[in-house]
Amino acid sequence: MATTTPATRPANPRFSSGPCAKPPTFTLESLSDAALGRSHRAAVGKSKLKQAIETTREILGVPADYRIGIVPASDTGAMEMAMWSLLGARPVEMLAWESFGAGWVTDVAKQLKLDATVRTADYGHIVDFAQVDFDSDVVFTWNGTTSGVRLPNGNAIPTNRQGLTICDATSAAFATDLPWDKLDVTTFSWQKALGGEAAHGMLILSPRAVERLETYTPAWPLPKIFRMTKGGKLIEGIFVGETINTPSMLAVEDYLQALEWAKSIGGLTGMIARADANSAVLETFCANHDWLDFLAIDTDTRSNTSVCLKFTDARITDGATFAKAVAKRLETEGVALDIGAYRDAPAGLRIWCGATVETSDLDALMPWLEWAFEAEISAL
Ligand SMILES: Cc1ncc(COP(=O)(O)O)c(C=O)c1O
Repeated sequence: MATTTPATRPANPRFSSGPCAKPPTFTLESLSDAALGRSHRAAVGKSKLKQAIETTREILGVPADYRIGIVPASDTGAMEMAMWSLLGARPVEMLAWESFGAGWVTDVAKQLKLDATVRTADYGHIVDFAQVDFDSDVVFTWNGTTSGVRLPNGNAIPTNRQGLTICDATSAAFATDLPWDKLDVTTFSWQKALGGEAAHGMLILSPRAVERLETYTPAWPLPKIFRMTKGGKLIEGIFVGETINTPSMLAVEDYLQALEWAKSIGGLTGMIARADANSAVLETFCANHDWLDFLAIDTDTRSNTSVCLKFTDARITDGATFAKAVAKRLETEGVALDIGAYRDAPAGLRIWCGATVETSDLDALMPWLEWAFEAEISAL
């Protein structure tokens, strides 16, 4: 039984699933070129916004004919803008296997009041994509941040579908090679795998999504911050950096710096490799300790970013209290911040493994995890 505290501490104890750890090279001084106190519509502001769009395209391999926009209200803003603007033209299927996907179901069923087909799976599982009708519009979350269950690939999505796919890729972007030909709308925020700031969302539209925008007018009113068309035509300016309303130029600078860091470590391939190496630390730890396991049942669906873990020791009778106590003990020691499971998810831990986290910090955390577990078991 490990009763003495381990000798090594993670150099950075930030394992939060959002906002996530900043890139290892981050300093406040690195933001000194921010266009602060300048108009975002001045040449300097516009060029930074355009650069953010084009570097995103370059790293993620987004096709040239897809539009990329910076929109208000983080990922939630981007997703709601897409759903409010596009849905209602065809039947809708909503897929959810954790809290964020469930939130989009609520939007569509209760607020837009669409009679959607809702397919759900319990925490740890994923919806059976073979049953989904892709001639409907289909809304789903690629990586379920609160269950650590992700889509292994886009194989089940047909390229010749009639409907649009609307994908919340918040905790998958920059950690997964997203198949653009399978995705009509993709959203994410800067605060996850890149360790950027929240507040702005990214909205990526396929040509078919643009066609829908230009040929369909929803029955409900659209607030200004959702409006992407004028007189039946796409407002192209949004997709070259002429944002609908005022962005934070500090957050934009921070995003640009994060993108540069991503490029410096090998772009998307390097980002994925780091996330894979990080999640492998937890794979190994779970394989060697029979009291901890992934919440994701099927190994193919295990997330390489938001790794969700459950305690499986039979001596634990109150799982929620136990997991909270372990997380609290680690936080008090200053070795792991914000690793408790999401409030709506089953009891356990959630440890962010995206590329901005150093593998050496996860390596250093593992003995502490064992120490905290043993301490809490002893205290039962
Ligand atoms: C899958 C997913 N969707 C949406 C959100 C909401 O993101 P934001 O608060 O940036 O709008 C999150 C945040 O954790 C998420 O993980």
